[in-house]
Amino acid sequence: MTAARIALDPRFTVGPIDRRIFGSFVEHLGRCVYDGIYEPGHPEADAEGFRRDVVALVKELGVTIVRYPGGNFVSGYKWEDGVGPREARPHRLDLAWHSLETNDVGLHEFADWARKAEVELMLAVNLGTRGVAEALDLLEYSNVRGGSALSEQRRMNGADEPFAVRMWCLGNEMDGPWQLGHRSAADYGKLAGMTAKAMRQLDPSVQLVVCGSSNSGMPTFGAWEREVLEQTYDDVDFISCHAYYRETDGDRASFLASAVDMDGFIETVVATADHVKSVLRSEKTIDISFDEWNIWYAARFENDERITDIETWPIAPRLLEDVYTVTDAVVFGGLLISLLKHADRVKAASLAQLVNVIAPIMTEPDGAAWRQTTFFPFALTARLAQGTVLRLEIECGTVATSVYGAVPVIDGVATLADDGSVALFVTNRHLTDVTDVTIDLGALGDVVVSECLTLADEDQDASNTREDPDRVAMHVNDSASVKDGVLTVSLPAVSWTAISLTRAGAFHAAGRSSQRSA
Ligand code: AHR
Repeated sequence: MTAARIALDPRFTVGPIDRRIFGSFVEHLGRCVYDGIYEPGHPEADAEGFRRDVVALVKELGVTIVRYPGGNFVSGYKWEDGVGPREARPHRLDLAWHSLETNDVGLHEFADWARKAEVELMLAVNLGTRGVAEALDLLEYSNVRGGSALSEQRRMNGADEPFAVRMWCLGNEMDGPWQLGHRSAADYGKLAGMTAKAMRQLDPSVQLVVCGSSNSGMPTFGAWEREVLEQTYDDVDFISCHAYYRETDGDRASFLASAVDMDGFIETVVATADHVKSVLRSEKTIDISFDEWNIWYAARFENDERITDIETWPIAPRLLEDVYTVTDAVVFGGLLISLLKHADRVKAASLAQLVNVIAPIMTEPDGAAWRQTTFFPFALTARLAQGTVLRLEIECGTVATSVYGAVPVIDGVATLADDGSVALFVTNRHLTDVTDVTIDLGALGDVVVSECLTLADEDQDASNTREDPDRVAMHVNDSASVKDGVLTVSLPAVSWTAISLTRAGAFHAAGRSSQRSA
């Protein structure tokens, strides 16, 4: 057993939570759209072919904004293919994923789905094979009320009201050699700058995300951000970060410390953006849109249904269908903690992706939809993390890792809602030992534990599958108690925990008598 002490104080403010930090991502990739959110003929499909059971799970997950339509897919995408009468829409080869795109779902359908799922729509423009003119066309089509050629075309296609898209990504991972239209930072910066200026000229209310590096291991990482921001600083609002983590060679200790890497990644990009700010003598601050993050075992899928014979590229093949374990979900919960800890600069984030493709929600054609292990930390954090983020002062031992050296056993963050309730999110990275945590709540006044839920399992590799969809769930952690203003709680080895603290009077007034499960 190990022990930890945590100091929690409402004055340890990081910043307000931008709800867009609980975003996700739907790409035309594998079965994310087709046989994922959209499956006409499924018993749960609505009149437009969208699965109601999936919409219900998206709402339960608490997603606020969804990035669409890619990802690598967007760099070859012609948005015009996906509007107008379905029967006239072309089938296209999707070079990114070696699939055949039917265009049965396009902008109108996805905007309808977003409305049903009660999420904001965030669009990416193609800066791989296209440029300024096509980005402007898409913006006019989406955001202009009427009276111009493309806005009238949208109205004729059935959407009288504009889609009013606020957040736009200027391409996707343009630093990656795998990207269609990949180019140097200088060339991308120039194109992104011109596109941003033009888009703002059309609609000054848009918020623009310029591509950062596709991961922090890229040889150009740092230099890419600097050069791209030097060319676009005045015309964009965010720079993107992308990061995927996985356990390699059985090194679970390092995997459990993945958030250490994410912390460093965010802080490096912030430092680079602020360096450009000072060089340019700018008053403006660029924030981060962490618009792809997750656990992804990319190597597992190198040989899956990626067909090389161009005549036989499949429609919606099973691609990147990771099945997540309890350990994956604990690390995932740690990544959410990292995003929250940087809420002063991370103002948007997209869990990549939403359904079937490295996703918290899985579906079977004509069959069920279920929650992966990673569903639970996301849903709980999105529900409980309200108001302002509070930094924690944590005193604890360390775990040795081969990748990150000695890292703290415990990581965590707290949030303070307007009604005075506090949520704590903590992870125990110890491979074998329970950690007993003591938290001084003196600065919070009279509070009680209204909920304490832990994700842990004797089998750290357990997962939810089609055959056993409810094998893993959050469990009430009844070790949590408050006495004389001190909270004590035992955190199992390899675990992630959410604790909700409510003002004593408020808790009783609400008539809540027991903890709820997720
Ligand atoms: O999310 C899967 C892929 O990962 C995206 O298409 C791409 O942007 C990233 O490399």
